Amino acid sequence: MFAFNRFVARGWGSLQLLRDIVPQVGRRVAVVIGKGFARRLGYVDRIVSILRDGGVEARVYEGVEPNPSVSRCNDLGARLREWGCDAVVAFGGGSVIDAAKAGAAVAKLGRGVETMFYPSIVEDALPVIAIPTTCGTGSEVTRYAVVTTDDGTKKLTAVGNPMVPVAAILDPEPLTNLPKDLLAYTAMDALSHAIEAFTSRRCGALCEELSLTAARLVFENLLCAFEGVGLCLERLQVAAYLAGAAINIAGTNVVHAASYYLTTRHSVHHGHACAVILPHAVVHLLKALPLTRAERLMSIARCSDAECVKMRIAELERRVGIEPSLKRLGVSESELSRYVEDVLSYRRNLENAPMEVDRKVVEEIVRASFRSP
Ligand SMILES: [Fe+2]
Repeated sequence: MFAFNRFVARGWGSLQLLRDIVPQVGRRVAVVIGKGFARRLGYVDRIVSILRDGGVEARVYEGVEPNPSVSRCNDLGARLREWGCDAVVAFGGGSVIDAAKAGAAVAKLGRGVETMFYPSIVEDALPVIAIPTTCGTGSEVTRYAVVTTDDGTKKLTAVGNPMVPVAAILDPEPLTNLPKDLLAYTAMDALSHAIEAFTSRRCGALCEELSLTAARLVFENLLCAFEGVGLCLERLQVAAYLAGAAINIAGTNVVHAASYYLTTRHSVHHGHACAVILPHAVVHLLKALPLTRAERLMSIARCSDAECVKMRIAELERRVGIEPSLKRLGVSESELSRYVEDVLSYRRNLENAPMEVDRKVVEEIVRASFRSP
């Protein structure tokens, strides 16, 4: 059973619709933001002013860092309770939106996020209104909040339909401020979501269409978005949303499982980490699918075999300046066996893959990524 947002607004200027949407779910909200960008470019003042126009009282919770920790989510939850908030507006990338979702659950349930991780299911949360400022995570539509342990070594996931944001506002305007490297990383996160969802053993008819459309939009729009074309940015944002909806149904699998080590141990951006793994994993994923199904994804990439899809993704990454080599990202050969162990510990993801992901498969993917030219 999966859930979607109650409200979805999209297009240039849709941020303004907060004035009509938010009063339907809350009267006293916290606006959750990261460090710098939202304040520096005037978005916080704009959002608070739009909310006040709608008769909503707003306070600001500032400073959510990338890969939010357990303590951060619990601190946010405590503030939401203290302030008597009945809803949360999250403006930022996946880290901000994930922290807001986790904090909304902490505030509503009155216990720490460390008690909520999968296989527990989060049974309630304050309503979250999500405004993504990157084009990758899909957190604005998913029921997941990925939280990092306080020692920074492990990513854990809180899961539950009450954490699906009640509203997603897809206004492409904030994307025009996104640095190019983040644009490239987050778009590759979206492409990973699309491909992992499509190849997941849990992907049915709806998930197939969502994920194929998302993949096509990334292939067709990443380069022109990289050059600053507004329509392409808008389409990438839709791609990220659709790919998020697809993983809400089918989950992620081996690409995400193999990305987490790079982020927790080597501070590689989440989308960049996925981009490094994706070309090497896609060959295994496509070969495990029935041919007619694999061909649907291959045709989106204008390919007739899995190796061609791998090359096409690698070429796309090269053109947007993504460093593909584990070695140059600081991973040493001596830690590869520890890396493989870490990947194998993410069983929840690996179980979604279309093939049995054993040590041999993980080793092949990790070593191929290590040898990337
Ligand atoms: Fe992701």
